[in-house]
Amino acid sequence: MTLAKKSSKSASKKTSKKLSKIASKKIVNEASSAVREPVMLQSVRGMRDILPGEQSYWQQARNVLKHEAEEYGFGRVDVPIIEFENLYRQPIGEQTEMVEREFYSFKTRGRDNVVLRPDFTPAVARTYLQHSMNMLTQPIKLFSMGTSYRYDRPAEGRYREFHQANYDIFGENDPVLDAQVIQIAYRVLQKLGIKNVQFQVNSIGTRESREQYSDLLKSYFLSKKNKLPSKYRDIIETDPLRIFDATDDKTVQVCAGAPQAIDHLDKESREHFKNLLEYLDELDLPYMINPMLNRGMEYYTRTVFEIFATDEKGLRHALGGGGRYDDLIESFGGEPTPAIGFAFGIDRLVLEMKRLKTKSYKPPRPRVYLAQLGDLAKKKSLRIFADVENAGILVAESFGRGNLKEQMEQAVKMGVEVTLIVGQKEALDSTVIVKNMHTGTQETIAREKVIDAVKSAMKQTIVVKKKPKPRKSKK
Ligand code: HAM
Repeated sequence: MTLAKKSSKSASKKTSKKLSKIASKKIVNEASSAVREPVMLQSVRGMRDILPGEQSYWQQARNVLKHEAEEYGFGRVDVPIIEFENLYRQPIGEQTEMVEREFYSFKTRGRDNVVLRPDFTPAVARTYLQHSMNMLTQPIKLFSMGTSYRYDRPAEGRYREFHQANYDIFGENDPVLDAQVIQIAYRVLQKLGIKNVQFQVNSIGTRESREQYSDLLKSYFLSKKNKLPSKYRDIIETDPLRIFDATDDKTVQVCAGAPQAIDHLDKESREHFKNLLEYLDELDLPYMINPMLNRGMEYYTRTVFEIFATDEKGLRHALGGGGRYDDLIESFGGEPTPAIGFAFGIDRLVLEMKRLKTKSYKPPRPRVYLAQLGDLAKKKSLRIFADVENAGILVAESFGRGNLKEQMEQAVKMGVEVTLIVGQKEALDSTVIVKNMHTGTQETIAREKVIDAVKSAMKQTIVVKKKPKPRKSKK
């Protein structure tokens, strides 16, 4: 096992300062005397590195997300990062901010218009159709995880490259599945130790009832136009539902008097929503109906929901969201196929885990340390390392270090049970010193007998650990 050094914030700040100084000097290639542009030793705005020190949270989050997907019978799909742009434009909504401003779109050398996926849903729906999953027994449950890209204004918890985990179910209209995906989300949060959560749910009806409702909203907002800031006045005609996302007092007040989607649902959607609420009541999870929740993407129909965490200052953070998209597959040319799903933002889960100091992933501890001294010993050690690993025993080394004392200190610090030492003499004799770190005894063993010696030293350790301490006799 290679030792990953913990990242230190201050050290990395100093290093990046130094690096940017180096980068800011123009580099002159002496042979050609051409001036090269300096290399920007900084990640692109809105994109970031996830360093070893943070990985234990990421690993924990990913493990729980994957585990729940398996528990609920989801099959994993990995979809490409790049998709054709028209897969996204209409489903998300031609006139939405996301399509107009947030797409990373470009033309390839082959003159295809493509995007870095802004989310997974249309891509997963394409996968379902492209691979004829409609021919299989329904419903089809798909789990996907990876990065998405939106050219938004970066802030804490909002990045231009971010990580999502998606759970999507195709081919079933029953609201029990809407309840099931919400249940999955709740279980993930519980397992990650994120407790301060709230689910907000709403129904936005079918496409037709939504269009009628949208017209109603337009008339309402037009009648209140003077009370709205100009940025919302501009979208009354094109995207009135987005006005509900406003947070300024004036607009919030106007929104409070607006007609609500829930009062304008078609009969079937109302029944569907009523059934969902009954299932949710059974599940006993913290939910509320938010009649203004509509979610940004146009592909949604009927159920929509969002998952929030509240921090100590009372600020809410959206950890995930989703809903039904019963028309999407048909809009791609497939048979009418209902679908429901949601995504967690993994960056946000990790932020929340760190804030709450929840349990993070603990990598298994190595039981053996391999120390070596000299070039020949180093060569022989590579093989010994592989043999110990092959025997299923987790082993640590630090091949870069020359100093035996330092290596022994490292072994003690790691709390290993056995240290293997290969010096010049052992390398020449094809032997290894096997040191039992608990008893302090050591013996020189032939190379081919090392694994047996390690195993028996580890057994001794267990015995030493289990042996009851002698009671102090009363005087
Ligand atoms: P969304 O609400 O756009 O839904 O994104 C889901 C989650 O991704 C958000 O709740 C948030 O946690 C995270 N997220 C979104 N944008 C960013 C960002 N810029 N930086 C960091 N995290 C972010 C969807 O993407 C839907 N496709 C979800 C879905 C799946 N619906 C059905 N199936």
